[in-house]
Amino acid sequence: MVMSVLEKQSATIDDVLAAKIEQREARIGVVGLGYVGLPLALLFTEQSFRITGFDVDQKKVDVLAKGKSYMVRIPETDIQAAQERGFSATSDYACVSAMDAVIICVPTPLTEHHEPDLSFIRRTAEAIAPHLRSGQLIVLESTTYPGTTEELLIPVLEKNPLGLKAARNGRASDNEFYVAFSPEREDPGNDSVARRDIPKVVGGLNPAATELASKLYSSIFNRTVPVSGPAAAEMTKLLENIYRCVNIALVNELKLLCMRMGIDIWEVIEAASTKPFGFHPFYPGPGLGGHCIPIDPFYLSWRAKEYDFHTRFIELAGEINLAMPYHVVSSTAAALNGQRKTLNGAKVLILGVAYKKDIDDLRESPALTIIELLRKEGATVRYNDPYFAYVGHGRKYDLHMTNTPLTDLDLYDCVIIVTDHSDYDYERIVRESRLVVDTRNATRGIRAAHIVRC
Ligand SMILES: NC(=O)c1ccc[n+]([C@@H]2O[C@H](COP(=O)([O-])OP(=O)(O)OC[C@H]3O[C@@H](n4cnc5c(N)ncnc54)[C@H](O)[C@@H]3O)[C@@H](O)[C@H]2O)c1
Repeated sequence: MVMSVLEKQSATIDDVLAAKIEQREARIGVVGLGYVGLPLALLFTEQSFRITGFDVDQKKVDVLAKGKSYMVRIPETDIQAAQERGFSATSDYACVSAMDAVIICVPTPLTEHHEPDLSFIRRTAEAIAPHLRSGQLIVLESTTYPGTTEELLIPVLEKNPLGLKAARNGRASDNEFYVAFSPEREDPGNDSVARRDIPKVVGGLNPAATELASKLYSSIFNRTVPVSGPAAAEMTKLLENIYRCVNIALVNELKLLCMRMGIDIWEVIEAASTKPFGFHPFYPGPGLGGHCIPIDPFYLSWRAKEYDFHTRFIELAGEINLAMPYHVVSSTAAALNGQRKTLNGAKVLILGVAYKKDIDDLRESPALTIIELLRKEGATVRYNDPYFAYVGHGRKYDLHMTNTPLTDLDLYDCVIIVTDHSDYDYERIVRESRLVVDTRNATRGIRAAHIVRC
């Protein structure tokens, strides 16, 4: 089929790419083999595409080359099966020229001053540009503010030695390449929806780019959702995450009120969830974590300032959610006080440092802030988490702690459940501990005077 398309005099470069995708002959590069990029690369290999993964982290490239995995939820057998279908990883961007499509999944964190840090996207574009060729499709998946694809990614890509330009109108000519934005909707730890069933939003710079990117993603997702352009696709992702951030802040605030009023917020949410329309449950917790919800909304509020616009919901939600780890610490101090003890000098065990249950991701985890705050108050802190043997240092923390076994719980003055991993036996934890502070309602159904839910 590809040959027959190529043989046609009238075949355009997008006909050729479309045919290669259909025949699984398109070579696809995935840049950034992290929580988003590696699973995406494996999905494509399952559909018999030959995938090349690019990462600047040589350690990751080496681990993959040995057929091993660095993610708990990806077994090494998956990596080995992918290798048999032609998957390889490299840190050498020269291989980009052999790709028909390149999908970028690099980090988009915030700087220390809570401003977007687009340096990873910029550096990736600078690395790709020397190896661009006409007719290639470049897709950005990293979450970012509306305008990034057109104002940052494309101008850097267009500084390529061949003078290639992004196709803006109609079909690409011989000296053009295609560009699209397609947000990632990965929800680590959520097994209730098959990855294939998550619709993929796609916004190309021109209709042909949207069509090609949709065709590419249709091979691994059951449904694609084309939108008018990259900015609409970028904004779609932010709306989804801001919706979560604001609603979590709402229940966190109502939890504080309910605590004062002696009402159980969890019981209220469960009851409200029986409404078959117009209500979607969100749950309170010790604070936001992960690479998305605590960060992405601030990409939009930063961008909005350029338009003299203040995104008040985002700011307010941020304020409430950021206060939650402080609330956990003051609740712990009050609970210890109830047993005539002080936080200063207390021995505290944190259960769960991952930012949510059953995953191996620490980024922005509220547990890290809680540990630092407890230490500042003079507590001796240890942690247990089956997903982390060691917690070293990151952008915002410097802990250097090793995992403590879940034994001798009575030696601690307080056990704080920060992450409600499924592996924990909560009955036993309550039975053997002197005081339990539960930030996740993990001890629901267990009756004991020494449980404090906060
Ligand atoms: N993790 C999630 O659940 C999730 C969900 C939806 C969207 N996202 C978004 O996806 C993007 C990626 O997130 P992630 O969680 O996969 O990040 P990650 O940190 O797990 O992975 C990013 C990878 O990119 C690599 N990298 C950095 N700079 C590079 C460069 N110049 N060239 C090649 N590789 C480079 C890093 O070494 C790392 O392996 C972010 O924008 C994030 O907001 C993440």
